[in-house]
Parts: sequence; structure tokens; C-alpha cells
Amino acid sequence: MYNDNPTLTGPAKIVDESKQGEVFFKDTLKASKKHFYIESYGCQMNFSDSEIVGSILSEVGFSPTRDVESADLILINTCSIREKAEENVRQRLRVFDKIKKSKPGMLVGVLGCMAERLKAKFLEEERLVDMVVGPDSYRDLPSLVAGAEEGEKGVNVFLSREETYADISPLRLGSNGVTGFISIMRGCDNMCSFCVVPYTRGRERSRDFFSIVAEATDLYNRGFREVTLLGQNVDSYKWTNPESGNTVNFANLLEMVAKVHPDLRIRFSTSHPKDITDEVLHTIAAHENICNYIHLPVQSGNSRVLDLMNRTYDRAWYMERVKSIYRIIPDCAISSDIITGFCTETEEEHQDTLSMIEWAKYSMSYMFFYSERPGTLAHRKYEDDIPEKVKRSRLSEIVRVQMQVSFKHNQKDIGNTFKVLIEGDSKKSDLDFKGRNSQNKMIVFPKSKDCKPGDYVWVKVYDATSATLKGKIVIGDG
Ligand code: SAH
Ligand code: SF4
Ligand code: F3S
Repeated sequence: MYNDNPTLTGPAKIVDESKQGEVFFKDTLKASKKHFYIESYGCQMNFSDSEIVGSILSEVGFSPTRDVESADLILINTCSIREKAEENVRQRLRVFDKIKKSKPGMLVGVLGCMAERLKAKFLEEERLVDMVVGPDSYRDLPSLVAGAEEGEKGVNVFLSREETYADISPLRLGSNGVTGFISIMRGCDNMCSFCVVPYTRGRERSRDFFSIVAEATDLYNRGFREVTLLGQNVDSYKWTNPESGNTVNFANLLEMVAKVHPDLRIRFSTSHPKDITDEVLHTIAAHENICNYIHLPVQSGNSRVLDLMNRTYDRAWYMERVKSIYRIIPDCAISSDIITGFCTETEEEHQDTLSMIEWAKYSMSYMFFYSERPGTLAHRKYEDDIPEKVKRSRLSEIVRVQMQVSFKHNQKDIGNTFKVLIEGDSKKSDLDFKGRNSQNKMIVFPKSKDCKPGDYVWVKVYDATSATLKGKIVIGDG
């Protein structure tokens, strides 16, 4: 049955009750009528973590609320990837400060990457903050909340080599009941010179394979029809069964999740160009329910810049990977992340990025100008020497080219019919549904009485902008 509001279906289970702290605090925290409000920033992993946090808190008597004013506990799950991301968080903290002043006893906690980066400094900088909790310490939240209730400010930013929260069934916050995230690994061992993630998320570790398949099965049984497997670098997923000694790689994992049910679609993010193998591509091609869509961030189209970025591939390697994708999965859509204005980038090198967008035919890209992050390799080794004005003008050029490429990509879909998973009402009109095709393109089409979110329908596309396709439901695939 389709569940309209899965957030409110009650707490999910923490299977392993033996974890220290939890059982104790279940009794000590006043179990009734407490509400937490959580806001998430940054990548999908952070949103997925908020669902783990939701589950941990629901075990000690908190239920989620969307109304910040009525919350007893406000949590902000933060991102440090660019300076702007951190500014957004500080702005929100100003707003929470005002609410807290009018509501004595309300607690505010900072979670996620900014908590990890700034640690106890957060408590000095932001007086309203009662607790600072890093991405690997969420099991400690009940105890930190209990301490804060007694007026004790708390910090736990311990980074673990093992924690994957494998036994915690996430509380699906704000979910549409159709699409869900599953974290398959945490941390990152790559040392891209611009990136703060290895410092905020710690070492890479893969989650036990059985718990991933069990979570996908559970989601399917609860009416979900799409799962996105998440990790900073999913292609390096590797888990060894301690009993049999057998190792499961990403291709094996994809296949096992695809076999959960043919009607459960699989997506994944993010793929690193150095790690995506032909085995993975053949696995995608062999399973109709593994979506023909790969997010393969290039970052720069120039080999010298890629080397400075420590991405460990060059332009030729990246192009070879793209060629293999289109050869093995001909109708695959590829998207990218691009950083412009990295240290010492010249105008010609910038042109290489522009030409890569056209050559690789990205369906879309996330585009940023370089933001120096304290403590990263680039911060220590290179000068952030491209003036902001130049970064911005290069970025707008990149955005313009990508929009043209996306527009062409979408125009080619006109006249074609796609299998679409209905996600819900379109943003603009409740007379229309929205849903995605396998290539991750959003299609808007008039509702029909016979279908509902969670159903697959065939939709013929008749119009397209650079962002959306418009279509009509047709019977069968023609
Ligand atoms: N693990 C993913 C990326 C995670 S961060 C990968 O390797 O592709 C998401 C994106 O943010 C990155 O791909 C990069 O394009 C961008 N990014 C990371 N650090 C940045 C920085 N210092 N300045 C600007 N953009 C950055
Ligand atoms: Fe950052 Fe690179 Fe790791 Fe991605 S692969 S999270 S860009 S260090
Ligand atoms: Fe941001 Fe942390 Fe994700 S820095 S992008 S929330 S891993």
C-alpha cells in the first residue's frame, strides 16, 4: 500500500539494543511528547544521516516535528564543503537563537561535517549551541541530550574506523514513500586536494552487505520503489564476510540489490572515475532495474589541473571511461561535478573543461567555483590565486555551456517513450504528476485516475526545457 506520510508511521527499530547508552537513556529521558526538529545541509549522505539520527532519537522518546517553534530539540546537520555552506549554517543558527530566547529549555545541537571540523570551537563561537556531534558519534546523542538537559554542554567528534550504523533502520524523514536512500559506506580515503570530506568524515569503510540487502527489501515491502545507494566513492565498496572470507565488491552488491525485486529501481552516487569498472557497467546493462544514469564528477577537463587536484586520473583516462559507459550502456545519461577557478587554472585550461562538457554530453552538472577549505592539501600547498571575479565569470560560462548541452540532451528525448516511476504531484500543479525515467530526468505529465505515486507508467515526451521534460501517459511502451 502506498503510504502518504511515512515520516509519521512511528519509530523505526534499532536492532542492536546492547549498544551502550541507549537502553539506559530510554528510561531516563522523559519519554513522552518530546519533539525534535532537524534541518539538513550538504550531500545526500548528510540527509541519510539525519534519518539515522531520527531513528536513534525516536528510540528515546522523541518524535519528529516540522515546526521548529514547537521543538524541544533543534538539530542542524551541517556541511563544510564550501565556505558558503558554512555561512548558511551560521545564518540559520541566528534564527534558532531568536526562537531559543523565547523558549527556555529548548536545546540546539550541531551535527555533521561542520561539527567535526570546528569541534569544541563551535561552543565558543556560537553560544546558543548545546552540543556538537560529529558524523560517527550519533549513537551518543541520547547521552549528550540528557547531559544538555542538565545544563552540561557536550562535544563528541570521535571519528571511527568501523561505524556504519548498519544495525539502525533509518526513520524516513520527509520521505515521499517512493524513493529512499541507503548508505553503503562512510568516509573517504581519496585525498582530493580541494576537499574537506576526508577530514570531516574520516576513513573509508563499507557497510555489511547483508544489512544493505535487508534494508532494500524492507523498503520494497513498505511500498518504496527506488533506492539510491550512497557513498562518497561507491565504486570502491568492498566488504569481506568474516565467516566465509568472501569479498563483495560494488558490482556484486548492485546485482544483489537489483535481485530484491524487479520493481525496485536502483540508483547510486557518487562514482569516482578512477574506480568505476567495466564489471560495474556490465552489471548495470544486465539489469533493467539498475538505472542507466551515472554521476561521474570530472571536476576539471584539464590534466594538469586534475593532477593538482590529486584526482589520480587525467583527461584521457576520464574520456576512456565515458566512452566505455556509452559503449556498454548506450542510453546511459552521465552527469558531473565541476570546480572552476582552482589554484593556477589558466584560461586555456578552463576551455578544456568547457570542451569536456560538450564532449561528454552531460545531462546535467553541479557547478561550483573553488572555495579554499582550511586544512586541505590545496590550502597547505597552493595559493588560491584566481580572483573571485574571474572564478565567477568562468563559472557563468560553464553554466551557460552546460545549459545548452542539457537542452540538446533533453530535446533528443522528444517523441520517445519512457518508463517513469511516479514520485508525487508536480511542483507547479496538483493536476500533474512528476516522476523520473531511468536516466534520472524529471518528467511532468497530467495525472490519470488509474495511477498513483509508486506506480510505473509509460510516458511519451512532447516538450523539453533544459531542466524538465513534459509528457503524456501512453499505454504500453509505444
Ligand atoms: N565524493 C564525491 C564528491 C563529494 S563533494 C566525488 O568525489 O565526486 C561534492 C562536490 O563538491 C565535489 O564533487 C566538488 O565538485 C565540490 N567541491 C568539493 N570541495 C570543493 C571546494 N573546496 N570548492 C568548491 N567545490 C568543491
Ligand atoms: Fe572529496 Fe575526493 Fe573524497 Fe570526493 S573522492 S569526497 S571529492 S576527497
Ligand atoms: Fe558536505 Fe560533509 Fe557531505 S562536507 S558534502 S555534508 S560529506
